Amino acid sequence: MKPVIQLKNIKKYYDGLKAVDDISFEIFPGETLGLVGESGSGKTTTGKLILSLEKPTAGDILYKEQSIFAMNPREAFAWRRDVQIIFQDPYASLNPRMTAGDIIAEPLKIHHLPVSGRVEELLHLVGLNPEHQGRFPHEFSGGQRQRIGIARALAASPSFIVCDEAISALDVSVQAQILNLLKQLQEQLGLTYLFIAHDLRVVKYLSKRVAVMYLGTIVEMAPSEELYSHPLHPYTEALLSAILIPDPALEKNRSRIVLKGDIPSPLHPPKGCVFCTRCPKVMPKCHVERPPLKQIGDGHFVACHLY
Ligand SMILES: Nc1ncnc2c1ncn2[C@@H]1O[C@H](COP(=O)(O)OP(=O)(O)OP(=O)(O)O)[C@@H](O)[C@H]1O
Ligand SMILES: [Mg+2]
Repeated sequence: MKPVIQLKNIKKYYDGLKAVDDISFEIFPGETLGLVGESGSGKTTTGKLILSLEKPTAGDILYKEQSIFAMNPREAFAWRRDVQIIFQDPYASLNPRMTAGDIIAEPLKIHHLPVSGRVEELLHLVGLNPEHQGRFPHEFSGGQRQRIGIARALAASPSFIVCDEAISALDVSVQAQILNLLKQLQEQLGLTYLFIAHDLRVVKYLSKRVAVMYLGTIVEMAPSEELYSHPLHPYTEALLSAILIPDPALEKNRSRIVLKGDIPSPLHPPKGCVFCTRCPKVMPKCHVERPPLKQIGDGHFVACHLY
């Protein structure tokens, strides 16, 4: 199968700040790639780069095997229609002075698509009452607002969606409903997702594969089952040790790994491995040489000198 999206050695530096520092991955049609990492690790920047809201400092991004930087205007227009984003905070990302109907119709107008009937269809698709299209964002609950954000993202019938912390701002009780909706829409419409979140638990439900980011780099990437049962990178181990695992057999064998110190500033990343200042298994080599992301098992990649 050919990937929908391919990142090749992508870097994004803001003056000296290395927000994203040489990452590569592919996302295949109909799958969800989960992207996990602490605040400031470069997740949103990665999403913005894919949507072409930011330009990379180096590297290439391919959409259906074509560089997005070498498209003619017609191809670029089609690409912009096919790739959409759902934001973290549905309140901040919805214009408070526009009705739900107008918010959802906006991408239709941008892409010269018929509006009539489509708004009702989209509201229905995301589980909202089509009769409420004249209401303003503040008249909806947080979960309903996120449904409006999802309807807007789906309006122009994209095939690829970046979900950037799409449920983080919602009440826990509502999070599961939105996750279910995203999963159901994926199956119904054959969507491909990049699903960004802080939390490995949230990512697990939707993701076929998961990539773990730390200080602008990918330290580990593997199929979900594999990553959760056999984490290799000490950082992934630490992240997993901090969450409750519903499987009692796994739970019994685990001990909490507490990382010392804070995540370093991306203005002054450590020499060598980005994780060396906090790694419980650090070796002299780690301070000198940055480990490349290496394939260890079937689809399992890790950037660590232990392997
Ligand atoms: N426009 C910008 N100008 C300068 N620095 C930026 C810009 N955007 C992001 N950064 C910096 O790049 C780094 C990565 O930011 P990014 O928003 O991608 O992280 P994130 O993983 O999405 O974090 P969070 O979990 O908090 O959303 C941070 O240090 C951030 O301050
Ligand atoms: Mg972010």
